[in-house]
Amino acid sequence: MSNGYEKGFTLWFTGLSGAGKTTLTAAIAPELKARGVKVEILDGDEVRTNLSKGLGFSKEDRDINIRRIGYVARLLARNGVGVISAAISPYREIRDEVRTAIEHDGAEFVEVFVHCPIDVLAERDVKGLYKKALAGELQGFTGVSDPYEPPVNPAVTVETDREPVAESAAKILRELERRGLIPAAGARGSGA
Ligand code: ADX
Repeated sequence: MSNGYEKGFTLWFTGLSGAGKTTLTAAIAPELKARGVKVEILDGDEVRTNLSKGLGFSKEDRDINIRRIGYVARLLARNGVGVISAAISPYREIRDEVRTAIEHDGAEFVEVFVHCPIDVLAERDVKGLYKKALAGELQGFTGVSDPYEPPVNPAVTVETDREPVAESAAKILRELERRGLIPAAGARGSGA
């Protein structure tokens, strides 16, 4: 039964609100499934409505939120799941803590920096939060009045203001292929 691709991993998106983490997740998850990967998604907004309900946006609460996501990702990844995490995860130290825990259990942690300049985000402002933050009506908003620490050495950087979603998704899929975590498109099913 083994096709050699059942090693779990965590694809960890980090980036500002509205940069495209959820959009990229929606593009990549079906492609992973089509290649025979078991996929689970831990999306920031969704996690905050259940697993992290009641948490706010202080550094302390964000750290708890990210540690929870990291914990669940670790349990899943070590059991062969391809986990996609899509939360801002603004603090480098906590991301690295999660990386260490996941790698300790023998799964790979693939950090993807979802980058988009703040002026473009403020212009798009899908949720209307940048406007409020810039007007001072929303305190501690990431990238405006709260820190965001970009990754030092991400496995992949996507520039969502310049690349179509399909191009960003393809870059990420190529990196997973390069690491031997997923089969190339169309390469699956020889033993099925
Ligand atoms: S994280 O910092 O803990 O990783 P998470 O990804 O879960 O954040 O949640 C971010 C989402 O919460 C944003 O996309 C936005 O919709 C909402 N949000 C509300 N308040 C804030 C804030 N102060 N800073 C950032 N995002 C906020």
